[in-house]
Amino acid sequence: MIANAIEDSLSWSPANRADFSLVGSALAAVVQDGDVICLEGELGAGKTSLAQTFALGLGIASPVVSPTFNILCTYPEGRVPLHHFDLYRLDGPEQLEDVDFWALTDDGTPGVCLIEWADLFPDEMPEDALTIHVGYIEGNEEARSLRLSGEGGRAGRLLAAVAEVFDGKSASQEQDA
Ligand SMILES: Nc1ncnc2c1ncn2[C@@H]1O[C@H](COP(=O)(O)OP(=O)(O)OP(=O)(O)O)[C@@H](O)[C@H]1O
Ligand SMILES: [Mg+2]
Repeated sequence: MIANAIEDSLSWSPANRADFSLVGSALAAVVQDGDVICLEGELGAGKTSLAQTFALGLGIASPVVSPTFNILCTYPEGRVPLHHFDLYRLDGPEQLEDVDFWALTDDGTPGVCLIEWADLFPDEMPEDALTIHVGYIEGNEEARSLRLSGEGGRAGRLLAAVAEVFDGKSASQEQDA
């Protein structure tokens, strides 16, 4: 077993896009109003790709694109409303107020927040958030590394859901071998 619900971090390197997308769908199945997911990783690593599979899982039909220029796009039509942030172009934390960041990430506010480039403003992120780092893997353009971490009840619930996916994949890979 590579993961379980009481650990506060998980790592997995999906070898292809199909496996990568399992993480977004697993999270979409369990997120609740007030949850916050912080996405970190280099330019083009796959943060928006993860957001897209997550949005599909929530039942959002409209195309999810990188909100780099708008900073925030809200999709109200899924099982839980999605507030998708991209903080790359912000010059400083005071600009977060312009997109209602603190109100939207407050755990009493309806909707789930997905925040690309959360690591640019670490002090502004809620304590009980799930952080996902997406990385490249040298020598394999279709593979990615994922590291998920978080402390607190909300993050723990999300980690547990993804742990099931990771365990299932590792079990089936052992069977195939
Ligand atoms: N397994 C994979 N999972 C996700 N994306 C992949 C995978 N393999 C290749 N890609 C490609 O990697 C790119 C990821 O781009 P994406 O916009 O999701 O990155 P990003 O981290 O949001 O970038 P930015 O920092 O510019 O916002 C896409 O071109 C996608 O097609
Ligand atoms: Mg992006």
